[in-house]
Amino acid sequence: MNSAERSIVRDLDLAPQGRLKMDWAREHMPVLNRLREQLSVEKPMAGQKVAISLHLEAKTACLAELIRDAGAEVTITGSNPLSTQDDICAALAVSGVTVFAKYNPSPDEYKYHLIQTLETAPDLIIDDGGDLVSILHSERPDLLKQVKGGCEETTTGILRLRSLEKSAELRFPMVAVNDAYSKFLFDNRYGTGQSVWDGINRTTNLVVAGKTVVVVGYGWCGRGVAMRAKGLGARVIVTEVDPIKATEAHMDGFTVMPIAEAAKYGDFFVTTTGNKGVINGSHYPLMRNGALLANAGHFNVEIDIEALEQQAVDTRVVRKDITEYVMEDGRKLHLLAEGRLVNLAAGDGHPAEIMDMTFALQALCLLYVNENHQKIGPKVIDVPYHLDEQVARFFLESQGIQIDDLTEAQEKYLASWKL
Ligand SMILES: NC(=O)c1ccc[n+]([C@@H]2O[C@H](COP(=O)([O-])OP(=O)(O)OC[C@H]3O[C@@H](n4cnc5c(N)ncnc54)[C@H](O)[C@@H]3O)[C@@H](O)[C@H]2O)c1
Repeated sequence: MNSAERSIVRDLDLAPQGRLKMDWAREHMPVLNRLREQLSVEKPMAGQKVAISLHLEAKTACLAELIRDAGAEVTITGSNPLSTQDDICAALAVSGVTVFAKYNPSPDEYKYHLIQTLETAPDLIIDDGGDLVSILHSERPDLLKQVKGGCEETTTGILRLRSLEKSAELRFPMVAVNDAYSKFLFDNRYGTGQSVWDGINRTTNLVVAGKTVVVVGYGWCGRGVAMRAKGLGARVIVTEVDPIKATEAHMDGFTVMPIAEAAKYGDFFVTTTGNKGVINGSHYPLMRNGALLANAGHFNVEIDIEALEQQAVDTRVVRKDITEYVMEDGRKLHLLAEGRLVNLAAGDGHPAEIMDMTFALQALCLLYVNENHQKIGPKVIDVPYHLDEQVARFFLESQGIQIDDLTEAQEKYLASWKL
């Protein structure tokens, strides 16, 4: 069977449309292209089976093809039911990557696709949010032996991995790609910052200037979302539970207050915490008519949707990816993309140039685990700094930007403790 026959996708006829999207992304991913030139000759992944769970859109497809070109047998599934694009799945399936994914599957189907991806008995995995690792450790321990290790893409997945590691149950090494300095700086901050507003703007077609935006959580993603909201002309309120982050938001010029207070003022609410119930049933009665609720955190647990449904007297879909909840007093609250990450479920995710760097890091870290898994052992490790630096150097070169080198005297001075 070839990859198209093995795959479960919506419609293989969508492949040309998906290929066009991938070509556009690839043209804007110079770092991955540079790696491809090297790895497709050296084939360092020859003989390896790689299972991937990532938001299945054009940039991810470019990573999957890079790993395929490096010699691996690649199987891929989504990491969120609404972020999978059917045309991309079709384009990958006809080009030698096995795909188990569809846009908006039922919860059972979504899980089935994850399990099918693992049934290939992978040597290496790339996970986003920890679903593959979680299933392997809880439901399919029979497949654990084969796995040498892998990489995790996002904050939420790292939290799950650290808890597995703490209970001494983690069985193979995982690289915390999310925790790379360059990933925080570029992907979580600038990528989420820009793409969240892209998702909200294209979904609502409403002006942001002059409105009040409440950003819940001022971590890496929250900083980006708040910064871009300010750039669009909004008044920005930040809510936090961490006093240091709250101080930072204050010093960055934002108004800081508890969510129970901010709930009264927001026209837009964006949650970016990775935590559950940060907007809950006690906040809906306080909100203004027409308030829009969006989430940028990994799971659809940040906005308490159950409470919203319980309080609403009527619900209808008023526009693609916008559900209107009519409250008892006639106010209307609007939930975007069913509370799933708005930039991916109602948009195309991060810009290509951002994912170029993140996915170059993924590819280099996967090679690193493949070569060093025995030495590392079953733990969560940071991205080796030289790989982080290598990606930034490749990026600068691709932009024609040069920087200085330390002189020998400067290196000596910085390494010395003497006066
Ligand atoms: N949408 C995307 O494309 C995208 C990209 C990267 C990460 N993520 C996800 O976004 C989430 C946040 O990631 P991050 O890197 O910004 O994490 P982070 O740890 O840097 O920031 C989270 C912040 O939320 C705050 N917080 C926690 N509970 C809160 C509460 N009840 N009220 C107010 N603030 C609260 C924390 O104090 C922290 O400052 C994670 O789920 C991550 O997986 C999404």
